[in-house]
Amino acid sequence: MTYEELMNKAIEVSKNSYSPYSKFSVGACALTESGKIYCGCNFENSSFGMTICAERNAIGSAIADGERKIKAVAIYSPNQDNCLPCGACRQVMHEFSSNDKEFDVIVKNGKELKIYKLIQLLPEGFNL
Ligand code: THU
Repeated sequence: MTYEELMNKAIEVSKNSYSPYSKFSVGACALTESGKIYCGCNFENSSFGMTICAERNAIGSAIADGERKIKAVAIYSPNQDNCLPCGACRQVMHEFSSNDKEFDVIVKNGKELKIYKLIQLLPEGFNL
Protein backbone atom coordinates (compact mmCIF):
# COMPACT_ATOMS: atom_id res chain seq x y z
CA MET A 1 0.00 0.00 0.00
CA THR A 2 1.63 3.24 -1.13
CA TYR A 3 0.87 6.58 0.50
CA GLU A 4 -0.84 7.62 -2.76
CA GLU A 5 -3.18 4.64 -2.40
CA LEU A 6 -3.74 5.41 1.29
CA MET A 7 -4.62 8.99 0.37
CA ASN A 8 -6.98 7.81 -2.36
CA LYS A 9 -8.85 5.77 0.25
CA ALA A 10 -9.06 8.86 2.48
CA ILE A 11 -10.44 10.86 -0.46
CA GLU A 12 -13.01 8.17 -1.17
CA VAL A 13 -14.25 7.89 2.42
CA SER A 14 -14.45 11.70 2.80
CA LYS A 15 -17.43 11.46 0.42
CA ASN A 16 -19.35 9.67 3.21
CA SER A 17 -18.77 12.48 5.71
CA TYR A 18 -21.87 13.45 7.68
CA SER A 19 -21.21 17.13 8.29
CA PRO A 20 -24.46 19.09 7.86
CA TYR A 21 -23.48 21.65 10.53
CA SER A 22 -19.91 22.59 9.62
CA LYS A 23 -20.16 21.52 5.99
CA PHE A 24 -16.54 20.49 6.39
CA SER A 25 -15.89 16.94 5.15
CA VAL A 26 -12.92 14.89 6.28
CA GLY A 27 -11.74 11.40 5.40
CA ALA A 28 -8.90 9.51 7.03
CA CYS A 29 -7.22 6.21 6.39
CA ALA A 30 -5.00 4.49 8.96
CA LEU A 31 -2.27 1.99 8.03
CA THR A 32 -1.37 -0.54 10.74
CA GLU A 33 2.05 -2.04 11.34
CA SER A 34 0.58 -5.35 10.15
CA GLY A 35 -0.28 -3.71 6.81
CA LYS A 36 -4.05 -3.42 7.21
CA ILE A 37 -5.99 -0.27 6.46
CA TYR A 38 -9.00 1.27 8.16
CA CYS A 39 -10.92 4.27 6.90
CA GLY A 40 -13.23 6.73 8.60
CA CYS A 41 -14.99 10.02 8.01
CA ASN A 42 -16.20 12.71 10.38
CA PHE A 43 -19.77 12.50 11.60
CA GLU A 44 -21.49 15.33 13.37
CA ASN A 45 -24.41 15.64 15.74
CA SER A 46 -26.95 18.34 16.50
CA SER A 47 -25.37 18.29 19.95
CA PHE A 48 -22.15 19.64 18.45
CA GLY A 49 -19.73 18.33 21.07
CA MET A 50 -20.57 14.75 20.12
CA THR A 51 -18.93 15.15 16.71
CA ILE A 52 -16.37 12.49 15.88
CA CYS A 53 -13.38 13.34 13.73
CA ALA A 54 -12.44 11.24 10.71
CA GLU A 55 -9.08 10.23 12.19
CA ARG A 56 -10.60 8.89 15.41
CA ASN A 57 -13.28 7.09 13.46
CA ALA A 58 -10.62 5.35 11.33
CA ILE A 59 -8.43 4.49 14.33
CA GLY A 60 -11.49 3.27 16.27
CA SER A 61 -12.25 0.78 13.50
CA ALA A 62 -8.69 -0.51 13.67
CA ILE A 63 -8.98 -0.95 17.43
CA ALA A 64 -12.34 -2.72 17.10
CA ASP A 65 -10.67 -5.16 14.70
CA GLY A 66 -8.03 -5.99 17.30
CA GLU A 67 -5.24 -3.81 15.91
CA ARG A 68 -3.13 -1.82 18.35
CA LYS A 69 -0.23 -0.39 16.34
CA ILE A 70 -0.71 2.21 13.65
CA LYS A 71 2.16 3.58 11.62
CA ALA A 72 0.59 6.15 9.30
CA VAL A 73 -2.63 8.07 8.77
CA ALA A 74 -3.65 9.87 5.56
CA ILE A 75 -6.10 12.73 5.99
CA TYR A 76 -8.10 14.54 3.33
CA SER A 77 -10.66 17.32 3.21
CA PRO A 78 -12.14 18.64 -0.03
CA ASN A 79 -12.62 21.91 1.89
CA GLN A 80 -9.03 22.60 2.91
CA ASP A 81 -5.57 21.91 1.58
CA ASN A 82 -3.09 20.50 4.06
CA CYS A 83 -5.86 19.40 6.45
CA LEU A 84 -3.98 18.55 9.64
CA PRO A 85 -5.40 16.59 12.59
CA CYS A 86 -6.83 18.39 15.61
CA GLY A 87 -5.07 18.13 18.96
CA ALA A 88 -7.37 15.39 20.25
CA CYS A 89 -6.67 13.21 17.21
CA ARG A 90 -2.92 13.78 17.56
CA GLN A 91 -3.11 12.44 21.11
CA VAL A 92 -5.11 9.39 19.91
CA MET A 93 -2.44 8.73 17.25
CA HIS A 94 0.19 8.97 19.99
CA GLU A 95 -1.65 6.30 22.01
CA PHE A 96 -1.48 3.80 19.15
CA SER A 97 1.96 4.63 17.79
CA SER A 98 5.09 2.62 18.58
CA ASN A 99 7.34 5.51 17.70
CA ASP A 100 6.16 9.08 17.09
CA LYS A 101 9.40 9.82 15.22
CA GLU A 102 8.48 7.19 12.62
CA PHE A 103 4.70 7.68 12.51
CA ASP A 104 3.69 9.46 9.29
CA VAL A 105 0.78 11.88 9.03
CA ILE A 106 0.05 12.38 5.35
CA VAL A 107 -1.96 15.30 4.00
CA LYS A 108 -2.68 16.58 0.54
CA ASN A 109 -1.24 19.89 -0.55
CA GLY A 110 -2.60 20.56 -4.03
CA LYS A 111 -1.49 17.59 -6.08
CA GLU A 112 1.38 16.79 -3.74
CA LEU A 113 1.42 14.71 -0.60
CA LYS A 114 2.99 16.30 2.42
CA ILE A 115 4.30 14.02 5.14
CA TYR A 116 4.70 15.06 8.74
CA LYS A 117 6.06 12.98 11.57
CA LEU A 118 3.72 12.71 14.54
CA ILE A 119 6.53 13.98 16.78
CA GLN A 120 6.45 17.30 14.86
CA LEU A 121 2.70 17.67 15.35
CA LEU A 122 2.64 16.52 18.98
CA PRO A 123 6.10 16.89 20.51
CA GLU A 124 5.17 15.91 24.07
CA GLY A 125 2.21 13.54 23.96
CA PHE A 126 0.58 12.56 27.22
CA ASN A 127 1.41 9.17 28.76
CA LEU A 128 0.27 7.57 31.99
N1 THU B 1 -12.59 17.34 11.89
C1 THU B 1 -12.04 16.12 11.61
O1 THU B 1 -12.72 15.21 11.13
N2 THU B 1 -10.73 15.95 11.90
C2 THU B 1 -9.92 16.88 12.45
O2 THU B 1 -8.78 16.59 12.80
C3 THU B 1 -10.42 18.24 12.65
C4 THU B 1 -11.87 18.44 12.45
C5 THU B 1 -14.02 17.54 11.61
C6 THU B 1 -14.87 17.70 12.82
C7 THU B 1 -16.03 18.51 12.30
O3 THU B 1 -17.00 17.61 11.78
C8 THU B 1 -15.45 19.30 11.15
O4 THU B 1 -14.21 18.70 10.84
C9 THU B 1 -15.23 20.77 11.47
O5 THU B 1 -14.54 20.92 12.66
